Amino acid sequence: LELHRVTLEIKDINDNAPSFPHKEMHLEISESASKGARFSVDEAVDPDSGVNSVQGYTLSANEHFTVAVHTSAETGKYADIILENDLDRESQDHHILILTAYDGGSPPKSGTVVIHVRVMDVNDNKPVFTQTVYKVSVPENAPLDAVVVAVSATDADEGINGDITYEFSHISMRAKSIFSIDQKTGEIKLKGPMDFEDTSSFEMRVKAKDGAGQAASCKVIVDVTDINDNAPVIFIKSLKTPFPENEPSGSEVAVIYVQDKDTESSGKVKCFIKQNTPFKLSLSIKNHFSLITTEKLDRERESEYNITITATDEGSPPLTSSKSLKVIVGDVNDNPPLFEKQSYSAYLTENNKPGSTICSVTARDPDWRQNGSVFYSLVPGEIGGLSVSSFLSINGDTGVISAVRTFDYEQYKKLTVKIMARDNGSPALSSNVTLRVFIADENDNSPQILYPAPQENSIMTEVVPKGALSGSLVSKVIAVDADSGQNAWLSYSIVKATDAGLFTIGVHSGEIRTQRDISESDLMKQSLIIAVRDNGQPSLSTTCAVHLVISDNLAEITDLKYANHEQDSSRLTLYLIIALVSVSTFFLTFIILILTVKFCQSKKPRLLFDTAVAIPSTHFPPTYAEMEGPGTLRSSYNYDTYLSTGSRTSDFKFLASYKENMLSADHTLRKTSTDMISLSGECLSGESSEV
Ligand SMILES: *[C@@H]1O[C@H](CO)[C@@H](O)[C@H](O)[C@H]1NC(C)=O
Ligand SMILES: *[C@@H]1O[C@H](CO)[C@@H](O)[C@H](O)[C@H]1NC(C)=O
Ligand SMILES: *[C@@H]1O[C@H](CO)[C@@H](O)[C@H](O)[C@H]1NC(C)=O
Repeated sequence: LELHRVTLEIKDINDNAPSFPHKEMHLEISESASKGARFSVDEAVDPDSGVNSVQGYTLSANEHFTVAVHTSAETGKYADIILENDLDRESQDHHILILTAYDGGSPPKSGTVVIHVRVMDVNDNKPVFTQTVYKVSVPENAPLDAVVVAVSATDADEGINGDITYEFSHISMRAKSIFSIDQKTGEIKLKGPMDFEDTSSFEMRVKAKDGAGQAASCKVIVDVTDINDNAPVIFIKSLKTPFPENEPSGSEVAVIYVQDKDTESSGKVKCFIKQNTPFKLSLSIKNHFSLITTEKLDRERESEYNITITATDEGSPPLTSSKSLKVIVGDVNDNPPLFEKQSYSAYLTENNKPGSTICSVTARDPDWRQNGSVFYSLVPGEIGGLSVSSFLSINGDTGVISAVRTFDYEQYKKLTVKIMARDNGSPALSSNVTLRVFIADENDNSPQILYPAPQENSIMTEVVPKGALSGSLVSKVIAVDADSGQNAWLSYSIVKATDAGLFTIGVHSGEIRTQRDISESDLMKQSLIIAVRDNGQPSLSTTCAVHLVISDNLAEITDLKYANHEQDSSRLTLYLIIALVSVSTFFLTFIILILTVKFCQSKKPRLLFDTAVAIPSTHFPPTYAEMEGPGTLRSSYNYDTYLSTGSRTSDFKFLASYKENMLSADHTLRKTSTDMISLSGECLSGESSEV
């Protein structure tokens, strides 16, 4: 066994290439890294030694990086990457570098590593809007939540640095209540209603902000477009009501203003009213209309009008609105009261009670209140010289006419009066109507016998020839009745006769005829009591006596008449004597009485019988006439006065009044004969008298 030390030197050959521990390398470099910054990379390892080991590094060509090789005693050569130019992540966020390590062998061998350089972001970019101004038009009626516009901004940064949030920066309170913005998407939505008429355009600024607080802003202009969403509004600016009915056609009743908030054609308004009224609208100035009358109004025909004014705009679709106004027509006193009849007639039975109602009249006045209130009155006038108001009276409010006095048909058969109806307007209007009051007859007058004259019945005798035959006319009773019609229709009858069968009387003619031939045996003096009766209800009658003498001898008749007359006149003479004696006695007594009084009062003898006795004259109305109405009778009374003419003596004379055929109140015919005696005297001239 032999031991030998053999040193075997293995000669190195370049059989190994440099190699990097990893195939790839990752570097993260902030884009904000400054120039010259060094970044170490992994060393390449080459097991060969000497020159065959790693000799240097090269970097693939690029803009940003270079490689610097360092030699260290222990580890050999290693490389740093040096930033030569600024990185910008936004332009290139990833760089791929190939680092090659080579050795010194021959031929040299190399190994590579891929360096992925990720450029780390730095917030070096502001967000940028796609537009600086966003301008949109939105109809005002856009629904809620509709997207008006979406703003958008971009940020080149990444991650949180590029996270953009949107918000309003400058915005009015009004806009804030209408618009909302989505923070993330930048969509601007409607959250409240828009009204073009309120705000036609909104301007606001939107800010976009990234996570690190970099911000940018843009302007958003929202133009609201008009939609015909406003109906015209009608305002009544002035209204004249009540509107007097006498205003001429074409007078202005009201001023109407129509407003439409919309613009353009949507705001153009047409205004009209229904056709069948007496009004029309006329445009005065823009959107102002006058309501004027097209004819004269008449309150009595139509007292109020409901006028509906309709306004339509020209939008599409058009909007319409309407308004009613009430025009009250004011009254003017333009209608006189009118009586219901052309004329009135009324009937009144005579002998009525004063105050009794005769009839009533009615007048109507269609005017309003006092212009239409009617008052009645009698038109002043005269009836037979007396004022109408002494005959009739009228109730001013009711038109009831009543009699003031008692009427007598025989005095007034008909009264014609005018009645006036007047309203209370100012000036008042009136009209009048004729009222005829017919007085109806009542049987209040008994027949009156004209022949034979009643007071002379004693002397009035009819002579009947002895040879009168049956049916010959002997006499005729003539009677009248102041009433009329049936009440004056007289019938005659014999109520009592000396010889009942001798005479008859015509029932209506009053003719007395013999009923049979006169015979010798008939009495010479015959008398008949005739009753005259009217046909009234109840009937009234009068009687008279007719004396007949049956004779052919004239002397017989005169004797008979004279006897009657003598008797009559002697009685008259007796009355006269009695009257004379009594008056004389009275007169003497009176004078003595006065003289006695004189003596007692005065001591002066001068006065004794020196003064004539003066007796004041008694005054009688020279004539006395009573008004007596129509009818078949008319009588008046005449008084004759006989006054003594001046002389030293006072004397007296008769004053006779004779009244004939006077109708007295108790409806019977009565003879009235009044004898009046008057004393009359005159004083002597030149002497003062004391009585
Ligand atoms: C007007 O209208 C009122 C109520 O609105 C009604 O009572 C009246 O009768 C109307 N008048 C006319 C003339 O139509
Ligand atoms: C009556 O008519 C007059 C005009 O004639 C008018 O002035 C007045 O107002 C009317 N009265 C009433 C109550 O209508
Ligand atoms: C009313 O009477 C007066 C005179 O009394 C007359 O002048 C007038 O014409 C009458 N009016 C009418 C409407 O009849």
